[in-house]
Amino acid sequence: MSILPFTRPTLGDEEQQAVNEVLASGWLTTGPKVDTLEQALADYIGGGVSVRLLNSATSALEAALMASNVGPGDEVILPAMSFTATANVVLRVGAMPIFVDVDALSRNLAVQQVEAAMTPRTRAVMPVHFAGLPVEMGPLYDLAERNRLIVIEDAAQAIGSQVDGRMIGAAGNPVCFSFHPNKNMTTIEGGAIASSDRQLLRRIERMRFHGIERDAQGNMDVPQWGGKMNLADVNAAIGLVQLSRLDAFNRRRRELAQLYIKLLPQHAALLMPRDQAGHSWHMLCVCIDFDALGVSRTGFQQRLQKLGVGTGVHYPAMHLFSLYRSYGYGPGDFPEAERIGEQTLTLPLFPGMQDADVEKVCTAVSQLLRGEDAP
Ligand SMILES: Cc1ncc(COP(=O)(O)O)c(C=O)c1O
Repeated sequence: MSILPFTRPTLGDEEQQAVNEVLASGWLTTGPKVDTLEQALADYIGGGVSVRLLNSATSALEAALMASNVGPGDEVILPAMSFTATANVVLRVGAMPIFVDVDALSRNLAVQQVEAAMTPRTRAVMPVHFAGLPVEMGPLYDLAERNRLIVIEDAAQAIGSQVDGRMIGAAGNPVCFSFHPNKNMTTIEGGAIASSDRQLLRRIERMRFHGIERDAQGNMDVPQWGGKMNLADVNAAIGLVQLSRLDAFNRRRRELAQLYIKLLPQHAALLMPRDQAGHSWHMLCVCIDFDALGVSRTGFQQRLQKLGVGTGVHYPAMHLFSLYRSYGYGPGDFPEAERIGEQTLTLPLFPGMQDADVEKVCTAVSQLLRGEDAP
């Protein structure tokens, strides 16, 4: 039996041809395709922002923190439930991640809990648009402005997500995107930062390539530290094709998510994720009270696998990882993040799926919720 994976990138002849053209051009690493994709992304996002491409969202977040001079002695507030990169980058620049709990339904940072987590050392807040559902940014930006905090949005999962018809990333603050293969559009590996702060982007531009700056005659200087975080033209060429297909991908994601919402049963042990206009449905993560069903999550996943359905877990609560426990965090600190970490299950969702695939998943999940075992 073929297994439906929880995600699969949609890549075709056009992407293949775009790669071949770059290979034939003789210019393989950062070059004209990167420039073109940066401009195309800036046009797509709107709001007059500029975009710089990097080799991952992790690099983009790290560079955004460094270029904002966040470092040793500073604290950065972020949700306790996200991919671990969100917290790791804070440690990487020498600052301290300060977790706050997430909301049970949106799974995003509980904005009303941010103030209580603030100290005189707080320099920045890093909200995450989990699974493509936009964070309620109004109250967060108000709070940040009142307390002179930097806001760096982790929009790794939210390319194409919108609030009131405006793209995430269009507001001007640094916003970082990922183009890893399981994201809504891919450059294979890759990331981007959108911002309207020209000076910040200039620092990031140098930082992504050894700190190098060249004058009009081509003479080289290194005015600041830099690493190796640039994106290659081969990747950007794939990204240009993917960006042209992104709205269609996201429309299909939305249709599939709505079919799930219609077909999954009402069940006391099943909590559906929140929907709202502008959600780009990067993932469909339900919560299941496995204890109430008397089955472990792994057992449930194995049974779904037998029925041809692949699943994922996004994500365990970060503060319970041994690295973050070593900074004093522990069980009970963030109850919603911990509950989600134990109960979350990612069901298949990608634009190449048929309606019949959703029906198959919903039938399988319903069967297991009723306690009927897989064959
Ligand atoms: C919320 C979040 N932040 C950051 C990242 C890191 O992205 P990348 O793999 O492009 O470094 C991811 C990747 O899954 C993510 O989901």
